[in-house]
Amino acid sequence: MSYLIGTDIGTSGTKTVIFDEKGNSIASALYEYPLYQPQAGWAEQAPEDWWKAVYSSIASAMAKSGISANDVAGIGLSGQMHGLVMLDKNDNILRRSIIWCDQRTSAECEQITSLVGASRLIEITANPALTGFTASKIMWVKNHEPYIFEKCAKILLPKDYIRYMLTGEVATDVSDASGMQLLDIKNRCWSDEVLSKLGISRDTLGKVYESCAVTGTLTEKAAALCGLKAGIPVVGGAGDQAASAVGNGIVKGGRVSSTIGTSGVVFAHLDAPRIDPKGRVHTFCHAVPNAWHIMGVTQGAGLSLKWFRDNFCQAEKTAAEMMDTDPYVLMDKQAELSPCGANGVIYLPYLMGERTPHLDPNAKGVFFGLSAVHTRRDMLRAVMEGVAYSLLDCMEIVRELGMAPSAVRASGGGGKSPLWRQMQADVFGCPVETVNSSEGGALGVALLAGVGAGIYDSVPQACDAVISVKSTIYPDTASQKAYEKAYSIYKALYPALKDIF
Ligand code: XUL
Repeated sequence: MSYLIGTDIGTSGTKTVIFDEKGNSIASALYEYPLYQPQAGWAEQAPEDWWKAVYSSIASAMAKSGISANDVAGIGLSGQMHGLVMLDKNDNILRRSIIWCDQRTSAECEQITSLVGASRLIEITANPALTGFTASKIMWVKNHEPYIFEKCAKILLPKDYIRYMLTGEVATDVSDASGMQLLDIKNRCWSDEVLSKLGISRDTLGKVYESCAVTGTLTEKAAALCGLKAGIPVVGGAGDQAASAVGNGIVKGGRVSSTIGTSGVVFAHLDAPRIDPKGRVHTFCHAVPNAWHIMGVTQGAGLSLKWFRDNFCQAEKTAAEMMDTDPYVLMDKQAELSPCGANGVIYLPYLMGERTPHLDPNAKGVFFGLSAVHTRRDMLRAVMEGVAYSLLDCMEIVRELGMAPSAVRASGGGGKSPLWRQMQADVFGCPVETVNSSEGGALGVALLAGVGAGIYDSVPQACDAVISVKSTIYPDTASQKAYEKAYSIYKALYPALKDIF
């Protein structure tokens, strides 16, 4: 039996999972690290922290699994997207990584739009300039830290920095590279036009691969740190959303998933690129060769509930420790005690600005409708409902673009909550399914590694072999009505508050 390793370099931590060829999870390990917020709206992480978490989690998962390093057939990397890692010519890290949810680059987005031209930018990169994407972060360093930009010899995404540490190869994959806004999305290659207009040298960027292609093999040094053998192939891997889509079987036309991680994403597979003329959802290359996807992204999904947990749910945290359970399970019980519509409290989840549908880095989080009758439970429920409404905002655009899924596959940490899944079924007005593996991104990239290693014939074949629907939740008519009313108020709040933000 051969085994595959999937490593997901996330925002709160890195998780490595070892799978057998049937997609069963054999062992896993998670290492967390800090997020630095030097100013409101800024978000940075240390690439050294990711690297330590990657080799520690691989070594620890290998030790727990009891399998022989000789039986590991391939490694796949999934990563938080859009983050900027800059190395000098001696491979020193030049500054902390400015990551996906950082919102400091509004001026650079205007600069990019005027340098490339608004319609040309969308024609090539399939998206308008956004603060989340890597290009505006590179331009920010160029404008504000020119002494760093001058020294920069390599520009890498988070998981591609890890690939470099594992294999010594400077490379990326099409799905993650799409989020840099330097890629020609239709042709799946770097755009020389965008690069030259922005003054970014192509030599600083890696070679672009399909997600299931082998990009290099594990070096002796990395193998020793990971408890593995040198020479194991590392495939292109994928940005975390495309990876999670593969891990949920979203690899064929008509399939749609909804993921609640730190961010929240509604993701739809496309057989050909399709672009939202208003730029509210992203069009990127998929981790499946010759396929693309659109995704609506809400910035503060799981982030909102984590923020609420850390500031207002000490009781659940303490109780959960004593009961050896997860505080979120106890928080769900509390939220269930407030009715659908949270007694009229409405929450806007814009703690880190918002992408879909507003594209507004200045948007802020809001609790609306509070009165003296309300309790913490209503606020907790309102947070979960507000995230569900923001996912509905994404879903509505996906439907507007012509996709009408008969069911949506829920995933991510938030997808584990039956209450949150029911809310999604009610607000989407369609069944919400889960699949047999909850390992999402890690499974997705392990399957990509399996294709690269020749264990499976193709990405869809790998998904057919290991992924099946495990549970389905159906919408409840009475709750749907309550949510419809609350959603109409939710929709009215952003336009009313926009100027005040
Ligand atoms: C996708 C996005 C997030 C990050 C972090 O565009 O920004 O999903 O990848 O999860």
